[in-house]
Amino acid sequence: MSKDIHTGFDETQYPHINRGLDGIVAFSTTKSFIDGQKGELIYAGYNIDTLAENATFEEVCFLLWNDRLPNAKELETLKADLIRERNLPEVVLNYLTGTDKDAEPMAVLQSAVSMLADFDPTKGAYDSNLFMSQAISLTAKIPVIIAAFDRYRNGKEIVAPLSDGSTAKNFLYMLNGVEPGSQAEKTMDLCLILHAEHGMNASTFTARTICATMSDMYSSITGAIGALKGPLHGGANTAVMNTLLELETQGEDADAVAFTKDKLAKKEKIMGFGHRVYKVFDPRGRHLQKMSKGLSEETGHEEFYEWSMDMLNTMKSEKNIDPNVDFFSATVYYSIGIQPDLYTCIFTMSRISGWTGHYMEQAANNRLIRPRALYVGEKNLDWVPVEQR
Ligand code: SDX
Repeated sequence: MSKDIHTGFDETQYPHINRGLDGIVAFSTTKSFIDGQKGELIYAGYNIDTLAENATFEEVCFLLWNDRLPNAKELETLKADLIRERNLPEVVLNYLTGTDKDAEPMAVLQSAVSMLADFDPTKGAYDSNLFMSQAISLTAKIPVIIAAFDRYRNGKEIVAPLSDGSTAKNFLYMLNGVEPGSQAEKTMDLCLILHAEHGMNASTFTARTICATMSDMYSSITGAIGALKGPLHGGANTAVMNTLLELETQGEDADAVAFTKDKLAKKEKIMGFGHRVYKVFDPRGRHLQKMSKGLSEETGHEEFYEWSMDMLNTMKSEKNIDPNVDFFSATVYYSIGIQPDLYTCIFTMSRISGWTGHYMEQAANNRLIRPRALYVGEKNLDWVPVEQR
């Protein structure tokens, strides 16, 4: 007999509550398909492996916004549009370089994205003729926001965006102040492809729920950023890296197997493992694992990959749980010099493409999203004056 942990309520006596909306199908979509048993992920018709091997992030953006790949002219136009939109209103830049240097990057990103609405000439009007330009502007500006705040908080000069180049190249350039090599750009671009879209995850559901009220895209994305920030969702990759860095402080005594078993014994969740849908290895994780292995060796941090494999094998043997997309992305980002508390911002830089694709899909066939709740409290109590309570 299943009981709701919050009320000890016997749910079998009443309409069944799918906790966490587990298994509930809320929409039809053409943006992605996930087979959690097979470990298959498809973005608008294309298998993630096909996209990982052949696409660029800009092509994936176009795919998620138009349900087809761009032709050469369309791709050039999109790249030019993204480059043109790589600027920030002065007020936003002043916020980024005036706020608390110890502020949490995802909180800063959320505030800055929300401010962008003030400077959109249409004020984020809910108008399907404007959604694409809003999506392009957000996709172009988010990397600029992240890099500008990181430079400021590290006491470095803000680096203006490039007037050419990919989103991946431009981000690494603005973050580090030097143009990345082709391998680093390709690694970043692949990470952006792998994190772009993933069906009805918590942040995408949030984005669609806000869109469904006919609220503007900036509000929808601001809400989605708040959802992605949580450690059970996009915040896990930062926690994964912090675990590996903690192990590093233990020197010769570092034991990833013991760490994992100890957390499990305490019934604590190990970040970077498990998934509501995948019951096998996350297909995105395989690409990230390959990058993690190569980059950890390249940067002399083989131990990070070895500890990761110890954790992976222990989780598999003890709980039959596989890693998710957040697990190996942590060491990949670390290897290309990105600070752990920026990892979820990078997730945002990618998932903005999926979120805005879903926003446009929701708006095209909208109905207010409003589920029910089972009331389990008292009813029609007599009033007791305060002096008698
Ligand atoms: C992302 O939805 C998406 O698509 C998300 C995402 C995307 O691209 O948008 O794929 C990105 O968010 C990946 C997930 C990142 N989060 C983490 O790595 C946090 C750690 N993972 C867990 O919190 C958990 O696996 C969830 C939240 C991801 C899924 O949780 P569920 O579906 O609610 O599963 P559950 O918590 O009910 O766990 C089922 C069982 C439990 O064991 P029992 O109590 O039945 O014995 O599995 C165990 C859990 O204890 N379990 C874990 C575990 N994940 C599940 N045990 C230890 N460590 C874990 N990580």
